[in-house]
Amino acid sequence: MRPTTRLRACALSISLLIPSALSHSLLVGVVISGKNYHGYDPRPGAVNFADRVGWLTTAADQGFVSPAGYDTPDIVCHRGGTPPPAHAPVRSGDRIKVQWNGWPEGHRGPVLSYLAPCDAATTAAAGDGCASVNKTRLAWTKIDEGAPGLFLPDTPPPGDWASNHLATNNNSWEVGLPLGLAPGPYVLRHEIIALHYAAQPGGAQNYPLCVNLWVEGPAALDNSKTTQPFDLAAGIPAMRMYKATDPGILINISQPLTKSYVIPGPPVGANANPVPVLSQAAPGYTAQGAPVVVTQGSVTVPYSPAVQTEAPVPAR
Ligand SMILES: *[C@@H]1O[C@H](CO)[C@@H](O)[C@H](O)[C@H]1NC(C)=O
Ligand SMILES: *[C@@H]1O[C@H](CO)[C@@H](O)[C@H](O)[C@H]1NC(C)=O
Ligand SMILES: *[C@@H]1O[C@H](CO)[C@@H](O)[C@H](O)[C@H]1NC(C)=O
Repeated sequence: MRPTTRLRACALSISLLIPSALSHSLLVGVVISGKNYHGYDPRPGAVNFADRVGWLTTAADQGFVSPAGYDTPDIVCHRGGTPPPAHAPVRSGDRIKVQWNGWPEGHRGPVLSYLAPCDAATTAAAGDGCASVNKTRLAWTKIDEGAPGLFLPDTPPPGDWASNHLATNNNSWEVGLPLGLAPGPYVLRHEIIALHYAAQPGGAQNYPLCVNLWVEGPAALDNSKTTQPFDLAAGIPAMRMYKATDPGILINISQPLTKSYVIPGPPVGANANPVPVLSQAAPGYTAQGAPVVVTQGSVTVPYSPAVQTEAPVPAR
């Protein structure tokens, strides 16, 4: 199928799925500086792009990871999460629009984003950026948790959540990258935690998805405007982010909250640069981006089949 046909097919299946309890979602792509980079569609029969920057997952049901999976590799970059060879080039301080293929309004909850460098500690193979990273070793620093408009306590239950704004913005979320990032390969981990069944122990639903990034530098980056570099040193593995009993995970959002919602996971890193909920916009794209492949650790070349490091993803 050609991409346009595929997108129409997606739109049709979303409209059929949204009313049902099985409504879930996947990563269509990311838009950076007006250019689109492909995500990954795990549904049976989907056609995926070899130059995608979205991680492969085996979540063919477009489903979630439940609290029972919080201490397993599934929570890192979804079930069966596997990195692609390509990376989307980006600059420190840029906005990345993460495009989901739909989001049911009833799946309310926080929208969280994390960043992890693919460095010597995480990547066994020499110098291919995030393409062969050991995901369980990635050390994540939170860069956005939907504040300050995450939950507006004045609204009646179940409330106005970051996920509602994501749905309103054409099912997308703008992630602001911190200023002062060192150039190099990174994984962006973006996640919605749906809380509609979270009053039951184990009922929260985490939808994590991952994207390979190449942060360019230093010429394109005006670090002179930053007071501090963004510090990733306190990053933690995803398998230590959440517990089933966290107050923001085991919660009945059908009741008025008696105190502020406690956002799950570690705190947002100092000098983060999130796009506030109420400033979220959903610009489209005007062109396809040109992903890069990392070689020798610090060199990038345009993605092409000649430098591909994995077989094209077959239709599944
Ligand atoms: C990935 O890292 C984990 C944690 O350090 C380790 O147990 C595992 O063996 C590594 N996997 C590979 C394929 O190197
Ligand atoms: C959650 O709160 C609603 C409204 O008070 C209540 O009807 C429901 O039974 C509660 N759910 C659980 C699992 O306690
Ligand atoms: C809206 O979302 C769809 C995917 O569901 C995407 O194809 C389309 O480009 C988006 N529109 C804009 C203006 O970003």
